[in-house]
Amino acid sequence: MNSSNQAPIKRDNLIAMLLAYTTCVQVSSFIFWLVFLLQNYSALLLKQRNKRFHPESVAETEKQKYTMAHYEKGMKDVPGEDIHAYNTNYSAHREGIAPEEMVEIYNKWGENYEKDFAGRYNGPVIAATSLAEHFEKGRRDAYVLDVAAGTGMVGEQLHHRGFTAIDGLDPSKTLLNIAERKNIYGRLINSFITSEPTASIEEDTYDAIVISGGMGEGHIKCSALNEMIRIVKKGGLICIVMREEYLDYVEEYKNLEPYMKQLEIEGKWEKMERKVVPNYSFQKNGIVFTYKVL
Ligand SMILES: C[S@@+](CC[C@H](N)C(=O)[O-])C[C@H]1O[C@@H](n2cnc3c(N)ncnc32)[C@H](O)[C@@H]1O
Repeated sequence: MNSSNQAPIKRDNLIAMLLAYTTCVQVSSFIFWLVFLLQNYSALLLKQRNKRFHPESVAETEKQKYTMAHYEKGMKDVPGEDIHAYNTNYSAHREGIAPEEMVEIYNKWGENYEKDFAGRYNGPVIAATSLAEHFEKGRRDAYVLDVAAGTGMVGEQLHHRGFTAIDGLDPSKTLLNIAERKNIYGRLINSFITSEPTASIEEDTYDAIVISGGMGEGHIKCSALNEMIRIVKKGGLICIVMREEYLDYVEEYKNLEPYMKQLEIEGKWEKMERKVVPNYSFQKNGIVFTYKVL
């Protein structure tokens, strides 16, 4: 009688154990897939956020597609944590950007400009160091124009190295207002530099011009070199620091070095230095050109 009573209990236990086991397997596989999906979804969201094309454009027309190709060339190798800042900078360097639109972007960027570039842009240090090397003596007396002065980061670096007579020129009024607060500039001239004479700057005025970051898509054109030569004294220097890769893919600058050479042939200036430097911006190489005006 005992043995016939025990048989159904064992079967019930077995069924209960089987049920518990399959429930465990199902729950753990559900948790596994949930975690797996969440991980992949958040990685996807992060990737999308980093790849966001700032501020608004998506390739639609042929021209925009080319713009995207242009963008992708530049952002290759940019570290993930720098992509947002890179995109913000790129919005002022989009292919085909009009000068007025570029200035508007810098005006809006304003107070965040230096924050976004902190630790990512060494142009001002490279530019000031390069110019200072040519002024072992006489830094206090050298009259320097910081072209494309922006918020005054180059002026600050020049000041640290003993330059005291520094003017700045930039078409962005908002950035110049920030530069003004640093109390290191003499005149601040709110203007573009172009091939035309700049109102209010006489010829042979400066001992040196320095530019960092002013060469870019839609920024300073090659023909503006003539105006720089006009306003720098004979024997004075023009020192330009820019991202090296722009020589390859910014249409305007494919002609920069040939144009520089042409000016040399015409006897307008003489090359003092051409050097490639690491870590100019976003861990990319920069290039420094220094010319003496003749
Ligand atoms: C990347 S920012 C560099 C600013 C500053 N030199 C620095 O190193 O932080 C580029 C600057 O070039 C200026 N810029 C663009 N086109 C210009 C032009 N044709 N003449 C003078 N400045 C120009 C912009 O207004 C902007 O302030």
